[in-house]
Amino acid sequence: MLGRLNHVAIAVPDLDAAGTVYRDMLGAAVSAPQALPQHGVTVVFVEMGNSRIELLEPLGDGSPIAAFLERNPSGGMHHICYEVPDLLAARDRLIVAGARVLGNGEPKTGAHGKPVLFLHPRDFLGTLVELEQA
Ligand code: CO
Repeated sequence: MLGRLNHVAIAVPDLDAAGTVYRDMLGAAVSAPQALPQHGVTVVFVEMGNSRIELLEPLGDGSPIAAFLERNPSGGMHHICYEVPDLLAARDRLIVAGARVLGNGEPKTGAHGKPVLFLHPRDFLGTLVELEQA
């Protein structure tokens, strides 16, 4: 069911500072910031060749990463995203297996313009999992 690793997302309190770490200290290619108001975050992409890192900063009130940053004020790994060939089939199979899908269970459009769903971290070894339609 799982395809390739699409990205690892790191929540950060300061996107400019985080981009500087990846660009200047680590020598990576860092994109321009992209505001995603429907997800409550601003994101930059760090292209890694075989995958990418997304740096997420809260955007607006009630950002879904605000509570995470309160617990992890200097930032931290927030979620990991796997591609699946059929998102709805994957969702239905996981629900039958007892996994919890976050939100109303319907896909939203993710940062790359493709449908995504999030799975409860308690069902996946303490890691918030995002599934993205390949
Ligand atoms: Co993501």
